[in-house]
Amino acid sequence: MTGEIHISPSILAADPLHLGDAVAAVRDAGVTRLQVDVMDGRFVPNITYGPAVVKAIKEASGLMVEAHLMIVEPERYVPVFAEAGADVIIVHQEVSPHLYRTLQHIRDQGKRSGVAINPGTPAFMLDDVLGLADLVLVMTVNPGFGGQQFIPEMLAKVRTVRDMVDRRGLAAELEVDGGIDEETAPEVTAAGATVLVAGTAVYDNPSGVSAAVTSLRRAALSGTNV
Ligand code: DX5
Repeated sequence: MTGEIHISPSILAADPLHLGDAVAAVRDAGVTRLQVDVMDGRFVPNITYGPAVVKAIKEASGLMVEAHLMIVEPERYVPVFAEAGADVIIVHQEVSPHLYRTLQHIRDQGKRSGVAINPGTPAFMLDDVLGLADLVLVMTVNPGFGGQQFIPEMLAKVRTVRDMVDRRGLAAELEVDGGIDEETAPEVTAAGATVLVAGTAVYDNPSGVSAAVTSLRRAALSGTNV
């Protein structure tokens, strides 16, 4: 396994009336990146943010911004989110019939390419595009909403993807998203995840964002010592 462990807060769980404060809070807590969950109400039953929010967050924070496109026809919006300042553009395998070309296109835009797979999508669907992905996102909940329960069956998939990446000698990051908290964080890092997306565990912690990030990072690192 390569690469250090990163926490990537999801602003989906933040107060929508105070996104600027929410972004500043995680930046001040020492994270280097965050994830913007873009949803279109078609690929997932929820509607969230557009490129203007990505642009504002990037300009205000300077953090690495991951645009997680939970939308149909994501290839149409790669240039739009690239222009908005996203550093990583993540598309879903399930809605990308030309996934090979789309990942190439993201890289051609000078951005890091990401591919996400839902709980029902097997890891082998990535076999022929793994070399084009700078990041693989294994969804550990059904996409669309924060605050859901972690799906433990996804741990086997995380291990499978970790093995696929390492056997090929690739540097792709292995990200997980959904139900990541102090309990599941060590489980996913022990399985080989290196980037943990967390919304509820970061923004709904009564001890505050900074303490939440610290304890989540500690829990995640404890999984790498097994
Ligand atoms: C699902 C979303 C969530 C969110 C994080 O589409 O992508 O997974 O980012 O959710 P929680 O609150 O479980 O960390």
